[in-house]
Amino acid sequence: MKNYQVFVFVLTIVLLNACNRSGNEQESKSAELNLPDTEQVVPPPVIDYMALGKTIANSSQAVLAKNLMDAISKNGTDYALKFCNTKAIALTDSLSHIFMASIKRVSDKPRNPGNQANQDELVYLGEQKKRMINGDSAIASLREVDGRMIGYYPIVTKAMCLQCHGKKDINISSTTYATIRKLYPSDKAIGYGENELRGLWAIEMVKK
Ligand code: HEC
Repeated sequence: MKNYQVFVFVLTIVLLNACNRSGNEQESKSAELNLPDTEQVVPPPVIDYMALGKTIANSSQAVLAKNLMDAISKNGTDYALKFCNTKAIALTDSLSHIFMASIKRVSDKPRNPGNQANQDELVYLGEQKKRMINGDSAIASLREVDGRMIGYYPIVTKAMCLQCHGKKDINISSTTYATIRKLYPSDKAIGYGENELRGLWAIEMVKK
């Protein structure tokens, strides 16, 4: 509906200007009416930042998942842990360049202390946890901060995540647990069950 109104508005201006050019009499009228240039009123393309951010988050998730699965199937969980340790942040950094957006994967209970959620992100996680307790699924959210659009997209656990984020001895083997402790002495990212909120993708886009 909004697009339609904008279209009609622009069309009106274009037609008025076309009339203006048809004669001197019309031209003086246009000066009286003080009509703006068509160039000035054509609206910029409307960007759906929520959808754009979702595409970026989904693509990043797919890249990380593929690398993780490849590492697990090639050399097992322990190797994959070490792989994530050195490659996860490097991968999201390269993706940030490709998508020209800042991409972060953060949590309220991070494994890597560098992935600690900030205050806004913690509030978002709290809200989504409430939704999930009430039986609703976690939803994305978009905010504008200093001319940047920031999208939050929930990250929810699946069964396969539990070998590294689940419960010790039940889901996490003792060898894997030892590696986690060694690589991440301040790890908080264990004890999860399936379908729990593990964190979020925070995608920061420059507003055009
Ligand atoms: C092979 C072990 C392994 C598996 C399986 C795994 N992760 Fe992780 N995960 C890690 C490691 C290691 C890190 C820390 C990476 C780093 O240092 O940046 C991590 C970090 C994360 C983070 C970033 C926040 C933090 O804790 O540092 C999220 C979110 C996350 N994992 C979610 C998941 C989800 C969801 C799944 C299942 C789809 C999953 N992980 C499966 C090992 C694993």
